[in-house]
Amino acid sequence: MTRAILGGEDLGMQVMDGSAAGDGATAPVAVLRLDGARSTLLLLRRFGGLPEIVHWGSRLPPDIAATELGALRAGDRPHNGPDQWEPCAALLPTFGGTAFGQTGLAAFRDDGSAWTATFAVEAVEEQPGRLVVRAVDHASELELRVELALDDTDVLVMRNTLRNLGPAALRVERLVSGTVILPAAVEAVHTSHGAWGQEFGRAAMSLAQGTISVESRRNRSHDHFPGLAAGLPGTGDESGQAWGLQLGWSGAHRFTAERLEDGSVQVMGGEFLHPGEVVLAPGEALETPPLFAAWSANGFGGVARAFHAHARRSVLRWPAPGGYGPMRPRPVLLNSWEGNRFALSDAALRTQAEQAAALGIERYVLDDGWFGGRRNDKRGLGDWHVSPAVFPQGLRPLADHVRGLGMEFGLWFEPEMVSPDSDLFRARPDWVLHVAGRPLRTARHQLVLDIARREVADHLFEAIAARVDEIGVDYIKWDHNRDLVEAGDVRGRAAYRQQVEALYALWRRLAARHPGLEIESCASGGGRADLGALLHTQRIWTSDNTDALDRLRMQRSAFRFLPPEVCGTHVSASPNHQTGRRSSLDFRAAVALFGHMGVELDPRTLDADESETLARWIALHKRLRPLLHGGHCVFGEDTPSRVLQGVVSPDRTHAVFLLAATDWPPQRRPHPVRLPGLDPARRYGLRIPAPVDPRWYQPSPDQQALAGEGKEFGGALLSEIGVSLPQMDPGTAWILECQPA
Ligand code: GLA
Repeated sequence: MTRAILGGEDLGMQVMDGSAAGDGATAPVAVLRLDGARSTLLLLRRFGGLPEIVHWGSRLPPDIAATELGALRAGDRPHNGPDQWEPCAALLPTFGGTAFGQTGLAAFRDDGSAWTATFAVEAVEEQPGRLVVRAVDHASELELRVELALDDTDVLVMRNTLRNLGPAALRVERLVSGTVILPAAVEAVHTSHGAWGQEFGRAAMSLAQGTISVESRRNRSHDHFPGLAAGLPGTGDESGQAWGLQLGWSGAHRFTAERLEDGSVQVMGGEFLHPGEVVLAPGEALETPPLFAAWSANGFGGVARAFHAHARRSVLRWPAPGGYGPMRPRPVLLNSWEGNRFALSDAALRTQAEQAAALGIERYVLDDGWFGGRRNDKRGLGDWHVSPAVFPQGLRPLADHVRGLGMEFGLWFEPEMVSPDSDLFRARPDWVLHVAGRPLRTARHQLVLDIARREVADHLFEAIAARVDEIGVDYIKWDHNRDLVEAGDVRGRAAYRQQVEALYALWRRLAARHPGLEIESCASGGGRADLGALLHTQRIWTSDNTDALDRLRMQRSAFRFLPPEVCGTHVSASPNHQTGRRSSLDFRAAVALFGHMGVELDPRTLDADESETLARWIALHKRLRPLLHGGHCVFGEDTPSRVLQGVVSPDRTHAVFLLAATDWPPQRRPHPVRLPGLDPARRYGLRIPAPVDPRWYQPSPDQQALAGEGKEFGGALLSEIGVSLPQMDPGTAWILECQPA
């Protein structure tokens, strides 16, 4: 350092030259690391600044010397660049210093100060599987806490907390949950995008230069699922190095992936903050939601399995009478929506319940239309009392009838919403989110309540809790059927994030009041399907689109992030309500078998054969349920004509696959089906279990045997060579089951 002197006057500033801190030759201070079962996150602490991310990938040997690592990482100074070179891989990139990539923090005070941040580490807490770095920027009076945890599921959980140490308020425009660095060889990120009815699409976005930014700003994520994945060139579903990130947050979010100056790829994910949403008073802190990040050497499927293992162990909580307990078998449910829409009648619902119980259904969910003046989607939201016009005796008799048939009773609510044509809105028009001076914007004819207001949250809590008690509700389908637009609170400030926090608080309150109550996070299907919601709920409704052909790829994509036991998958009517497409009951049931299975049609419309077939599919799901909901998902072939998806038990003794034909194969005979995930050393009995009845033309005797008692094969042959199966008709699916021979 030298003092700055101008015209003989000491300017009171220090000038850094290239040999001071910030020089690549400076000795490293320490190596910080976290190890998973197969992965390592390696950080290097030098320059006094935030640790630098050196490696997130395969597990490294112990005892990595800091000096050696420092020497490996000591880079040259770029031509025509700053004299004080610093690596661009900090745990939290900020404005200030010499990193010119996207920043994970954007904040300032009203006087224009505090917009730069150069954090100096004050303390590092190292616990098994967990690192907490506490750093301070004295010039801007900011404190940062970076939390990192990695367990043997190989999922890294990241979270940042920023505290305002200054005497004046701090406006925060961005604080990401986490930053990771991927190797320069990564060429693309795979995002998951869509729209209502077309959720969980998948797109590869090229990272040639610059930044990819994926943003969702409406508190529902139909447009962009809050997660992404990336792999080295050549990485596939079951091979190659892959990385995945997903945010545990049900509000607005933003992910960026940027090719940095040194070619590496910086990925950040976190909340999207609307203007003015976060103003920290002196001493106040902002804590981000968690960012879950997985690495695998076994392709995108390996990343998915890591996410599933982590969610099963650390995210999902299963209500039990005394609190939380182990997951109960996920009850096969009947949802009343597509079979009835708003045309509800007590007598019809009773008959449907009886027929559902006979099919083997275990939970009966009464959807929209049971309350207030809700005879169509234009009115009634907010009036959460049972409609005497539809249920003159109330809902208790129907719920008792359902329970008498051995099923649980579930009920639909859309608590955060209000119809302009409702008693609630007439009484409390001031309760809705809006910006003063602007017209109220409806969507699906409804407005959004400001549930961060105590009196609104109390009103909803009391209404829901009272119905749960009175009727005897075991399960709530919690809907959210519109985007937030111009969502201002009572003071006119953007209220997107406080709405999510208030929702989580309401869910926590209900869980405390009704231990044992399960909740499904619906949001028009796929709109609130994230690990933030799943910290409080037990199921997501994957999509309002129940067309089996569309669901095949949607579910495959959803399972890349979320475990199948929480993804609602229903057998609905043909022609399909959303697409008008016709498909066989077998095809619809085979596709629905692989998630949390349900039925969404009027059982009275089934003839005797169809009822028997559906009952057999439900029985098959129940038999396979421990495997389907506790096994390892594998991602097989995915071509324009055929899709293979499976689940293998953790000990690899039992596996089940869905093989679906989506079109005619390009050649006369389809190529062999290779079954991933099996134990190569084990022998398996392979068969196509009932009720699948493959329609095939002159099968070989060995093929014929698969639909009977099965055939025995070695695991290596099934995985590497594959089994030749006859041609399938488009729109048909078979189940392939492997059991110990
Ligand atoms: C949303 C849900 C559906 C159904 C309707 C009822 O669209 O996703 O499953 O509950 O609302 O209005």
